[in-house]
Amino acid sequence: MRLIITGGAGFIGSNLILHMLQKYDHLHILNIDKLTYASDLKYLEGVKDRDRYTFSKTDLVDRPAVKNVVQRFNPDGVIHLAAESHVDNSITGPEPFVFSNIVGTFNILEECRQLWTAQKRIQLGRFHHVSTDEVYGQLGDEGFFTESTPYAPNSPYSATKAGSDFLVRAYHHTYGMNVVTTNCSNNFGPHQHEEKLIPTVIRTALAGKPIPVYGRGQNVRDWLYVLDHCRALDLAYHDGLSGQTYNIGGRNEWKNLDLVREICSILNEQIGNGPDGDYNNLITFVTDRPGHDFRYAIDASKIENELGWRHEMEFREALEETIMWYAARYRG
Ligand SMILES: NC(=O)c1ccc[n+]([C@@H]2O[C@H](COP(=O)([O-])OP(=O)(O)OC[C@H]3O[C@@H](n4cnc5c(N)ncnc54)[C@H](O)[C@@H]3O)[C@@H](O)[C@H]2O)c1
Repeated sequence: MRLIITGGAGFIGSNLILHMLQKYDHLHILNIDKLTYASDLKYLEGVKDRDRYTFSKTDLVDRPAVKNVVQRFNPDGVIHLAAESHVDNSITGPEPFVFSNIVGTFNILEECRQLWTAQKRIQLGRFHHVSTDEVYGQLGDEGFFTESTPYAPNSPYSATKAGSDFLVRAYHHTYGMNVVTTNCSNNFGPHQHEEKLIPTVIRTALAGKPIPVYGRGQNVRDWLYVLDHCRALDLAYHDGLSGQTYNIGGRNEWKNLDLVREICSILNEQIGNGPDGDYNNLITFVTDRPGHDFRYAIDASKIENELGWRHEMEFREALEETIMWYAARYRG
């Protein structure tokens, strides 16, 4: 089986490649990545010389390059993760999000459609699109996102992810392409770029700098351990029904401020040296993100009931492991 994983040098993609190579002997993976600032190939050092792993530095916005790489590799399936992924950057500079997330998705989707149509296997080649729960907009204090929640993206990032979700949906409806889309909540774990919330808290705390918390820290996110997410992606890619979407979440809601305090308490226990003995003293409220969605929470019943997925990692244990992974890097 020949599988393309796009965005494999990023946070989730690199964890997914390691998971897939370890689990399946028959898979040959081509990692397509443009290598933006958010990527890091060093996490794949251990597999880079394997026969079953190939890397191609390709920008998905470059259509002829995408055609070339798809035709030469001749995939049986694709798991598409490549995207500009940081909401704050989409507010200050939305243009790369439109190109990478919408045009990039179109290019790889269309090249796969052309290849599999020519090979008379449009209903066999699988295209798995990895998306976000942010396409659903925001929740109040109550309720959960389900697969039938209407789309209401609020940031330029989530609008571009919604656009790509709709393209993938339309390719199933129009061409009968074998697609599946997963929409997940906030991931945490090793390999994430330092700009994201959990790495930022650990990095700034260990440097003795102010830990920035937006607004009053009351926004709520549903945290999912990246390795639990990778197992869900594996299941959805292999067993998900064509044309279906599946929500993936950790049933694990935290107010941002409570999560930051939890991280500070683990740092106090495991590392110490916080100012006056407590990293909580570094918490600093900063001007809120414009249009900051209040709450995200996923109802993952569909993937649990239909594909038998469960998140497995106990949160506190996963958070501790994650903190120690970053601490080892940030402390040198
Ligand atoms: N991290 C999360 O919490 C989260 C939550 C929901 C959904 N997602 C989605 O999961 C996917 C992966 O997220 P992540 O956190 O690993 O992101 P990331 O930013 O860590 O990695 C994205 C990767 O895509 C690559 N890329 C970007 N533009 C490209 C282009 N034009 N051509 C080729 N490669 C390109 C980057 O170089 C990078 O390696 C994204 O599609 C994101 O929208 C992430």
